Amino acid sequence: MPIVDPAVESYIASLRAPQADPVLREMERLAEERGFPIIGPEAGRLLYGLARATGARAVLELGSGFGYSALWFARGLAGGGRVHCTDRKPENRELALGFFRRAGLEERIRFEVGDALEVLERERGPFDLILCDLDKPGYVRALELAVPRLRRGGVLVTDNVLWKGRVADPSVTDEATAAIREFNRRATSHPELETAIVPIRDGVALSTRR
Ligand SMILES: C[S@@+](CC[C@H](N)C(=O)[O-])C[C@H]1O[C@@H](n2cnc3c(N)ncnc32)[C@H](O)[C@@H]1O
Repeated sequence: MPIVDPAVESYIASLRAPQADPVLREMERLAEERGFPIIGPEAGRLLYGLARATGARAVLELGSGFGYSALWFARGLAGGGRVHCTDRKPENRELALGFFRRAGLEERIRFEVGDALEVLERERGPFDLILCDLDKPGYVRALELAVPRLRRGGVLVTDNVLWKGRVADPSVTDEATAAIREFNRRATSHPELETAIVPIRDGVALSTRR
């Protein structure tokens, strides 16, 4: 089930000149070659805008892959800001550090290899922005741990919350879909959050701490 009508997707894509940033372009090509699920250029611009709009200096990513979403954040950070990346795969750290070096932004990344939920549990924050892009069964735990680590006015950004429309199909009951439904239910009714579900790409939730 497409979230956005394919004709509208094509229209949005047609407004864009080809990616001008050589490092982002290389990362987009690598994702395509490997079939690796990056957040993509449209949601990437949203991350950049959030970083600029909130004056972010402290960003935490849960599930950084090889650093594509982190690079969009990093480009929008205020002076002295840093993105704390996490991923369980060491090879993603090496790739991300290489991309950040080539982008001239190596001082804006810290990349920790390990379980992102363990890192989140240990970190105290406060963070201006947290991105949740983990394996889906971890989403509810990530929400619980993220809220007290966000500053007031900070935003938890969660990817894939519409999960190719499967969340809206009651016949789909697999673990990942059930976890996303539960995340959406809690995020939209959480007393400390104001959550907007933005139906771009695969659905992005923006949960602002009140
Ligand atoms: C969708 S990809 C991340 C893409 C990245 N945010 C981007 O848009 O460029 C998800 C990544 O999260 C990592 N991952 C999933 N669950 C994790 C966990 N519990 N702890 C650490 N890494 C995890 C995977 O190894 C994978 O690289």
